Amino acid sequence: MTEKILITGGAGYIGSHTTLEFLLAGKEVVVLDNLCNGSPEALLRIERLCGKQPELIIGDICDASILNELFDKHRIAAVLHFAGLKSVSESVREPLAYYENNVMGSLNLCKAMARAGVYHLVFSSSATVYGDPAQMPIHENVPTGALTNPYGRSKLIVEQLLQDLADSDPRWSIAILRYFNPVGAHSSGLIGEDPQGTPNNLLPYVAQVAIGRFSELAVYGNDYPTRDGTGVRDYIHVVDLASGHLKALQAIESTNGVKTWNLGTGTGYTVLEVIKAFERASGRQVPYRIVSRRPGDVAECWASPAKAAEELDWHAVHDLETMMIDLWRWQLKNPRGYSPQAIQLV
Ligand code: NAD
Ligand code: UD1
Repeated sequence: MTEKILITGGAGYIGSHTTLEFLLAGKEVVVLDNLCNGSPEALLRIERLCGKQPELIIGDICDASILNELFDKHRIAAVLHFAGLKSVSESVREPLAYYENNVMGSLNLCKAMARAGVYHLVFSSSATVYGDPAQMPIHENVPTGALTNPYGRSKLIVEQLLQDLADSDPRWSIAILRYFNPVGAHSSGLIGEDPQGTPNNLLPYVAQVAIGRFSELAVYGNDYPTRDGTGVRDYIHVVDLASGHLKALQAIESTNGVKTWNLGTGTGYTVLEVIKAFERASGRQVPYRIVSRRPGDVAECWASPAKAAEELDWHAVHDLETMMIDLWRWQLKNPRGYSPQAIQLV
């Protein structure tokens, strides 16, 4: 039986780009996704891009029997674990759903992996685990904690759970990847981010203002101690992020324990700089209004990617302009995301 990579959440935004990257690298992939925020259409489009479609198992990581069946049926070499819920505001309203999906789901997955003798895991964490650090750029040894919402806490709890697991059994080899702000889309415009309802994050909202779905963007505060008063973030192209997973998995194949890497570019941009870059890329105006700060936001958050560069030989190669061009191409080709109306436009 061929060895395969299990990608949980592979029908979602980052998972679909990473699935494509792994297929292009010649890996066999099985996707497990409950489709609560993912689309099977993403996997069909992946096939158009690389000639191979991963097997999709529709199921929940909280369901132990589905996981056990999957590991019994397929010979899995490693797991990339993207599945989870990711909205900060929703997590404040529905904390139990976040602890259930993100913490219990990850715990279930680890139990099923141990039962099947699979010990290589790459976990999707977030720069949110650093809270509001005093110093920029953020290195991996900056203390974590002081989190203000259940989403962030669920990520940190899973990080700690994984460390305890690796401490308890030397067969585990785990990569924790702390993503900064993933944006953009594959350069084909065939796969991209398809947020349901009103987007919470900056770039999907900007793109939807440009396409005419919303009349203006609310910029959350211009009184931060930054270049122009608006928040600074480290935006990273989703394809760079995907390639980081290939490198991380290669790196943990021959080691054990837990390794943690930031995946960011090392450059921060303000909200106003991002708006200008998007306007240049799209040729469209993005009307905006300054409103008060969003609770829980930090002034600045940008990575030191030095550890990933040194240990993984990984570097983000796409600049802000390319991120905006690729985002706009995806948005233009798919004004309604993966919904049926959009498919005719592609
Ligand atoms: P996404 O919502 O597009 O993808 C997540 C996928 O997981 C979806 O396809 C969804 O249907 C699936 N899923 C959710 N719960 C599941 C469950 N219980 N069982 C099976 N499938 C389930 O999100 P994304 O942006 O691709 O994020 C992927 C991962 O990266 C998440 O864990 C997220 O927390 C983390 N992350 C994302 C960002 C970001 O800005 N997008 C930043 C840092 C970390
Ligand atoms: C947010 C989450 C973070 C999560 C990440 C990826 C919060 C507080 N943080 O990060 O935990 O890991 O998304 O899902 O929600 N902005 C506007 N107007 C908008 C939207 C955003 O001005 O309509 C600003 C924000 O204030 C921030 C920047 O744009 O300065 C980026 O915001 P966003 O895309 O939501 O990402 P983060 O807040 O960095």
